[in-house]
Amino acid sequence: MSKQIERKAKMIVDKSFQIAEIDKRVYGSFIEHLGRAVYTGIYQPGHVTADEEGFRKDVLELVKELEVPIIRYPGGNFVSNFFWEDSVGPKENRKKRLELAWRSLETNEFGLNEFAKWSEKAGSDIMMAVNLGTRGIADACNLLEYCNHESGSFYSDMRKEHGIEKPYKIKTWCLGNEMDGPWQIGHKTAKEYGRLAEETAKAMKLIDPSIELVSCGSSNVEMPTFPEWEATTLDADYDYVDYISLHNYYGNAENDTADFLAKTMDLENFLHTVIATCDYIKAKKRSKKTLNLSFDEWNVWFHSNAADDDIMTNHPWQVAPHLLEDLYTYEDAILVGLILITFLKHADRVKMACLAQLVNVIAPIMTEENGGAWKQTIFYPFMHASKYGRGVALQPVINTTKHDTKTHTDVTDIESVAVYNEEKEEVTIFAVNRNVEEEVFFEADMRGFEGMKVLEYSVLENDDKKAVNAITGEKVTPKAKTDFTFQDGIFETNMKDCSWNVIRFGK
Ligand code: AHR
Repeated sequence: MSKQIERKAKMIVDKSFQIAEIDKRVYGSFIEHLGRAVYTGIYQPGHVTADEEGFRKDVLELVKELEVPIIRYPGGNFVSNFFWEDSVGPKENRKKRLELAWRSLETNEFGLNEFAKWSEKAGSDIMMAVNLGTRGIADACNLLEYCNHESGSFYSDMRKEHGIEKPYKIKTWCLGNEMDGPWQIGHKTAKEYGRLAEETAKAMKLIDPSIELVSCGSSNVEMPTFPEWEATTLDADYDYVDYISLHNYYGNAENDTADFLAKTMDLENFLHTVIATCDYIKAKKRSKKTLNLSFDEWNVWFHSNAADDDIMTNHPWQVAPHLLEDLYTYEDAILVGLILITFLKHADRVKMACLAQLVNVIAPIMTEENGGAWKQTIFYPFMHASKYGRGVALQPVINTTKHDTKTHTDVTDIESVAVYNEEKEEVTIFAVNRNVEEEVFFEADMRGFEGMKVLEYSVLENDDKKAVNAITGEKVTPKAKTDFTFQDGIFETNMKDCSWNVIRFGK
């Protein structure tokens, strides 16, 4: 290791520089009735690993490795024409429906109660979305009554008839999905949605005041109505909701890795704008409540676009079509790591986030219908962050060399954040060298953390930025790195160009 290399970053890690306690729900994910997420993904009766409920145990094992605290369900665009009653009760009576969002056939063989059972086995809570596209206040209330009310009313007794004695007590509910998007079934203007969300929220909180509600933000940062959508809708529903949603997907269609990895600068701007808009409405309403952010759809998504268009246009109404089956590269995993670092740097306001999605559909976990399950490249940074990113996010005081890319200037070479887990007496540094050409000499001053040693230094490093994993083998997998020094509280290493780094300190 040499200090002679030109590019450098120095970080100070101090336990008194605290951003906030990390809400573990920032490591959430998402299962939508889309493609093979459910059918041949998490659920496949007859598969060699299927349990008594038809849940694939090979998939459950991989989901558990990710330690996902909360999973959004059942959509996504799917929810905007979902009739939840179709998905409960005896399976032989369930209706097959034309699923309009993805032009597929929904058998409803797997529904609400199956998902609740599956998520319990996965060790995850549910973030439930209600249909505010083709339905409204009454149906949202009925669903909440079915899920959360003890007994003695029509829908709570219906749940009991369906064999579910105890209510699920689902805490987190999304008021529709991407209602600003013209593609959404039942798309609304900001004024229409704001009023509907306000009235739905009001009614839902009368049924169960303990729930938390997420108001729909813009579908992505490029929407022409962003951020006016946020201002108008929150002006209506601010008093009744607890979070606003953000969605965004990233891609490298231009095949420019350096510029691709700079895209978390756009994400930073997106977060700042939404926070500012929430705080503007707070001030306007003289409210004491601060609204937090639920980034409930995020990932890389672009590889499958052409194939998806072909399936939906030319081969519609299939059960479990191969939709959104992006095959992730090494560089995609690095961007996923950068996005997670960005969320942790905003731990004071980003309280929930969902990697979209979990299985087969733009997912870290893939399955073969007649074979096993395997891990995509993006599995690893998510797993590291979810496992070791619990505790308090520390303010990254960091001085780093910078570079320019095609559409970004002053891009930091090193992006990093540290997490302090007081209970375990551990500190973890997550860092990306997003300079795609050069190594960076990285120094961390671990002041205030006496008596610690390096427990583990794990990296994703690869010279092939387009390397992918497959069921037959993993080209992208974490490796232990031994080339570092840690003396007198100073950690030093050379971080490889375009790499993901996890440095764990403990007693
Ligand atoms: O996650 C895939 C889709 O992306 C979701 O259904 C929708 O909400 C978003 O546009």
